[in-house]
Amino acid sequence: MGAKAAIVGAGHTRFGALDAGPRALLRNAVDAAFASVDRGAERSVVDEAYLASLGFGGWQIGNSAAVLAEELGQPGLPTTHIENACASGGFAIRAAVAALGSGAADLVLVAGVEKMTDVPSGRRRYWLGVSGDTEWERLAGLTFAGVYGLIASRYLSDHRVGPEALAEVAVKNHENGALNPNAHFRKVLRSDQVLRAPRVADPLGLYDCCPVSDGAAALLLARADLARRFTDTPVYLEGLGAGSDHLAVQERPELTRFVASRRAAEAAFRAADVDRGRISFLEVHDCFTIAELLALEDLGYAAPGEAAEITLSGATRRTGRLPVNPDGGLKAKGHPIGATGVSQAYEVFLQLRGAAGARQVPGATRALTHNVGGAGATATVTIFAAG
Ligand code: COA
Repeated sequence: MGAKAAIVGAGHTRFGALDAGPRALLRNAVDAAFASVDRGAERSVVDEAYLASLGFGGWQIGNSAAVLAEELGQPGLPTTHIENACASGGFAIRAAVAALGSGAADLVLVAGVEKMTDVPSGRRRYWLGVSGDTEWERLAGLTFAGVYGLIASRYLSDHRVGPEALAEVAVKNHENGALNPNAHFRKVLRSDQVLRAPRVADPLGLYDCCPVSDGAAALLLARADLARRFTDTPVYLEGLGAGSDHLAVQERPELTRFVASRRAAEAAFRAADVDRGRISFLEVHDCFTIAELLALEDLGYAAPGEAAEITLSGATRRTGRLPVNPDGGLKAKGHPIGATGVSQAYEVFLQLRGAAGARQVPGATRALTHNVGGAGATATVTIFAAG
């Protein structure tokens, strides 16, 4: 299938505990996206805008997309807020591509933002928790770290592997994050530090968890046939897939497979009509270290239980045969919920144009992003190719 859309510009703020509020973060990312376009992308040319957010840390839950019209100086512009928890960014990109493919728009802005660090911890627990199942999980006291801790326990016991593979995910992603000027954490970690860190939800310790981050990212997507109006180096979206699953993990037949990710991956590979071996690197949703192992299996790069061995072999390092999360992933780059899926596409945009600096994956021509909502209730997979 021919690509229907291409990224022609992208912007990103730093991720971390930042002073700026959500509006300023959005503005910085959007300004940077426009500044990155080679030519012809004035704000007045944007036909539509999508905002990915879980509600600005709970401060602005309803109608938040209207701020994008303000930021573009275009009151009247159609704007839509997309909320699928941590997968909001991936689903916003999908909605934008549908608008471009339908002919309703030629140029679309997709922005993602979250401001999490100034939300008091009790309120944050509630605000994050409402993206899981309320009746069976949140009201029973289960957090996302708790759910992923259960999944990790099951994975390690079913496949008879130790926690070293989880630690290797953290070590690798912190090593990559140290090379990314936008990353929340730029500190390298050793495996023994990860294994000895305070427990959060056994077997997951502090360094197995993504942090609580502020940040924003933005993309300008054009119809594929118009992309070269804006740049000589567009990055094409070759295939998109999405899926959902039971909201409560207890309803699922298996804890260690995410049906939503599997379905999204199958659809994306079918649409792009490429083999897995032709993807140069993956940006996967490693909200907890176990999630990166599940991703390798759900995306079809490893059989059940094999992701641990592949990870320990070093294959997923930036210089390995299948680099995973060269930007540091959610683990080290940070995870401002609504911004994450957009940020993954930003990394792909840089990498496929050879502009990722010290963390560049040599010779990257195709990449895949994988964005998961909560503990796998929703997921998107997108395959990109250099122009
Ligand atoms: N990874 C690495 N270091 C981390 C970290 C993380 N996830 N979270 C905090 N730190 C570091 C801080 O930088 C700080 O270091 P310092 O002492 O050198 O300054 C130290 O650990 C303590 O930080 P603090 O903010 O007090 O940690 P915390 O105990 O309040 O929070 C977690 C730690 C893991 C509970 C928190 O990061 C968390 O809840 N993460 C998961 C977020 C989430 O669920 N997102 C949705 C996913 S689906």
